[in-house]
Amino acid sequence: MSNWPKYDMEFLGGRRQRRLRSSAWMRDLVRETTLTPKDFILPMFIIDGQNEKTQIKTMPGIERLSVDLAVKAAKEAAAAGIPALALFPNTPAELRNADGSEAYNPDNLMCRALRAIKNAVPEIGLIADVALDEYSSDGQDGLVRDGEILNDETISAMVHSALVQAKAGADIIAPSDMMDGRVGAIRQELDAAGYEQVAIMAYSAKYASAFYGPFREAVGSGSRLLGDKKTYQLDFANSDEGLREVAQDIDEGADMVMVKPGMPYLDMVRRVRDSFNVPVFVYQVSGEYAMIRLAGDAGAIDGKAAMLESLWAFKRAGAKGVLTYFALDAARALGA
Ligand code: PBG
Repeated sequence: MSNWPKYDMEFLGGRRQRRLRSSAWMRDLVRETTLTPKDFILPMFIIDGQNEKTQIKTMPGIERLSVDLAVKAAKEAAAAGIPALALFPNTPAELRNADGSEAYNPDNLMCRALRAIKNAVPEIGLIADVALDEYSSDGQDGLVRDGEILNDETISAMVHSALVQAKAGADIIAPSDMMDGRVGAIRQELDAAGYEQVAIMAYSAKYASAFYGPFREAVGSGSRLLGDKKTYQLDFANSDEGLREVAQDIDEGADMVMVKPGMPYLDMVRRVRDSFNVPVFVYQVSGEYAMIRLAGDAGAIDGKAAMLESLWAFKRAGAKGVLTYFALDAARALGA
């Protein structure tokens, strides 16, 4: 090698890009984005009972928690600097029906969790998911009649659900169903009931995705679900259609919008960020968590490094924040 010709590198001129990567402090100095615990929203699965926690087989490290344990976890999250939680109930089978009427029971699991956490940890923000799959007997986000998902009837149920959640202490209502017109209807009725201060984070560009599998196990909707959600969630081949959904949700009154899933849809995060002037959130969904976590556990990748890299990628793509099951681990890894 020593007698190989040395290239005349004159063509580089001053463009030696590696200068800016030459040491840790230099990389810190020129780093374009930051990642802090303030960027995270921690999703939490709630179950009935006292001092109960149950394992989610497909999500090692994540447990469903009874309300009292959720309060403890909320305290830990607040102490780690995480600004908000996203709550999802696993409604007991006997309370589920075709109407999903448990969704608007003011004393349902979601409302009890909201009240308890709001009361014990007032400094953390509470995001309430609104969709019927967490309450209905058939696992669909909408009401089903003869195999059809009914749009407008579903919205009435969702409005009632959002109202009991707001009353119980939800700071942000997050409709995750992809029905047409739900943001406008929820905004109108929240205002009419005096909840003008309650914000709406719309799951706007939500794709019909295979990456939701572990979540459906976690909330108990997966084994009930017949068919798929393709008549309402977006086709993963489409990008412009996602932008139309975002535009419409903002028009109807969404304060913040979301892209979901995360890593396979970074292009959408960037497009939404460049096209609209509202905060954009991204959901690193259950299947993404499982992939990184299980591959890390198997020693195929460095799980902790991959976790941080994936979260940073969302910031680079333009996200204001990330819903992630890694929120606590990542906050700790970042030194919180
Ligand atoms: C349901 C809902 C889903 C998720 C959040 N809310 C699942 C679905 O649409 O089937 C997925 C979250 C995840 O996979 O982590 N309305």
